[in-house]
Amino acid sequence: MFKIILGLLMAYLLGSIPFGYLIGKYVYHKDIMQAGSGNIGTTNTFRVLGFIPGTIVFIFDVLKGTVGGLLAYLIWTPLPDNRHFLILAIGVVAVLGHTFSIWLNFKGGKGVASSLGILLAYSPKLFLISLCIFLICLILTSIVSISSLLNFFFSTLVFWYYDEKFLALVAAGLMVYVTYLHRSNLGRMIHGNENTIKFGIPYWIRR
Ligand code: G3P
Repeated sequence: MFKIILGLLMAYLLGSIPFGYLIGKYVYHKDIMQAGSGNIGTTNTFRVLGFIPGTIVFIFDVLKGTVGGLLAYLIWTPLPDNRHFLILAIGVVAVLGHTFSIWLNFKGGKGVASSLGILLAYSPKLFLISLCIFLICLILTSIVSISSLLNFFFSTLVFWYYDEKFLALVAAGLMVYVTYLHRSNLGRMIHGNENTIKFGIPYWIRR
């Protein structure tokens, strides 16, 4: 029981580290919570600070979910038979930490990159499939938020198809949660003024 609490606590604190906010504040002297969409995640870091910090934040935010998931291996050696459950449970807590950061008065990111990171700990193959789904959606829409949500939807179907039923259920739960966190994006989509990026077919056509 102590190990479980320790693992969950470590995953929460790891997920809580607001890399986008910290890099913005201490390297670029900009508060990304007051610029762009106000999100501390990868997309807004790209938007407000640029390509290099955006890439760094993406890698670190993905690693939150991955390291969170891998904590299961550190805490339980050897991992018991229910290891998949443990990896997912601890990874999900890291995502919760990212979205409800103790360092930002329980505000945070939208959990997309960190959720993807759990997959890297769980199954690199499914991680690559999910990443490809996201990129295809991004090429087709030029909108990160809708691509993120479509990625959750299609990845859930893929997990089910690969007979990863429990993973599919976790992904479906995260999809509901992440969709709720995207409510401002959904509002902008309904009004036709959601942020687009300079990438993908709609952008290439508009140019
Ligand atoms: O990962 C978050 C993304 O889906 C949307 O980000 O900054 O456009 O709200 P943002």
